[in-house]
Amino acid sequence: MSRLVAGTCSVRPALDLLIDKDDLHECRLVEADPPAPADGQALLSVELFGLTSNNITYAQFGRAMSYWDFFPAEEGWGRMPVWGFADVAESRVAGLPEGTRVYGYLPPSTELLVTPVHIGERGFVDGSPHRSALPAAYNGYTATSADPVYEAGTEDRQMLLRPLFFTSWLLDDFLGDAHVFGAELVVISSASSRTASALAYLLSQRDAAEVVGLTSQRSVAFTEGLGCYDAVLAYDRLEELPDGRAVYVDISGDADVRAGVHGRYAERLAHSAVVGATHHDRMGEVPPDLPGPRPAFFFAPDRVAARSAEWGREGLEGRIADSWHPYVSWTEGWLGVRHERGGPALRSTYLELLDGHVDPAVADVLTLQQ
Ligand SMILES: NC(=O)c1ccc[n+]([C@@H]2O[C@H](COP(=O)([O-])OP(=O)(O)OC[C@H]3O[C@@H](n4cnc5c(N)ncnc54)[C@H](OP(=O)(O)O)[C@@H]3O)[C@@H](O)[C@H]2O)c1
Repeated sequence: MSRLVAGTCSVRPALDLLIDKDDLHECRLVEADPPAPADGQALLSVELFGLTSNNITYAQFGRAMSYWDFFPAEEGWGRMPVWGFADVAESRVAGLPEGTRVYGYLPPSTELLVTPVHIGERGFVDGSPHRSALPAAYNGYTATSADPVYEAGTEDRQMLLRPLFFTSWLLDDFLGDAHVFGAELVVISSASSRTASALAYLLSQRDAAEVVGLTSQRSVAFTEGLGCYDAVLAYDRLEELPDGRAVYVDISGDADVRAGVHGRYAERLAHSAVVGATHHDRMGEVPPDLPGPRPAFFFAPDRVAARSAEWGREGLEGRIADSWHPYVSWTEGWLGVRHERGGPALRSTYLELLDGHVDPAVADVLTLQQ
């Protein structure tokens, strides 16, 4: 995508969504001159990106987990990371031709300036100094031409589901490796979320434990209809959770649900994994007297680093790609995609997601390009 507006000599302004780090409901669209790459840099044109609750969690934990640091903005404001596709619009880097299409971690903007290093046919890593201390899993840009996951017809699902499915795959791998901690049950909260259903889908194939989903009353029928859970319960029916030795995978971050599940199983809770925080307005400190094991944070990039050390990065990605393709076909049966264009649409979609107005059967793909 050229920065020149067709038929004129003017340069199209770069557009950004900025979020107030202290009040996530305060956000504004800003225009600026597009950055110009210096020697050793390239300008990416951000073409398309997905938006799900995962992105809201990036904003919610922007300070605590450095998510704001990937794409710095003016003091007090942040650019919430998204996953999507970008084209190399201008390149002043040997070996990275203009027009190369990549998948990766992007700002909700029209442009991103990168300093590509480790350039090869599989893509590159952004070696910008401000990213060097951040988790490596977020700094790679994969060229679609050499990506085992890429299929031109499924770009929407790659943007929306790939980061979530990778986490679910790593969680399933982690639980399988630990023989599900000897449990007969895996209880998953925010069961209607894409991360939860991908995990349930993978666990159901492993067939090592019964998988029980917890969700809000409004999403019980949808979640049952997915067919990947052995049972689905609304959050106000925790007393009906099946008996047995259980593992809890917490994707909601909801303090009351956590207390209910831990109280229900107590010493029969074999492991409690903290994965997400979709209920970001109902979180709370873990009380010292919480029954059962202390919740342990599951951070996908840590598991990527561990498995990459063992199998190599390509070995890990090849294994995930093998599971990815049938998973994507499965989601085509229940997940619709809505396409939105322009700054105001991005702003309103972001605010709806922030307030939990999420239809689990539909997900949003956006572009800020004209
Ligand atoms: N640890 C990691 O490395 C890692 C990696 C990937 C994702 N995650 C986390 O997994 C979580 C799920 O992400 P996703 O993109 O899969 O979600 P999603 O598909 O957008 O999930 C939608 C569901 O989340 C719940 N929800 C969302 N916002 C809510 C709100 N404001 N109030 C109440 N419920 C709300 C609802 O489920 P229910 O009604 O069923 O609760 C809703 O149906 C996120 O917190 C994400 O950050 C973590």
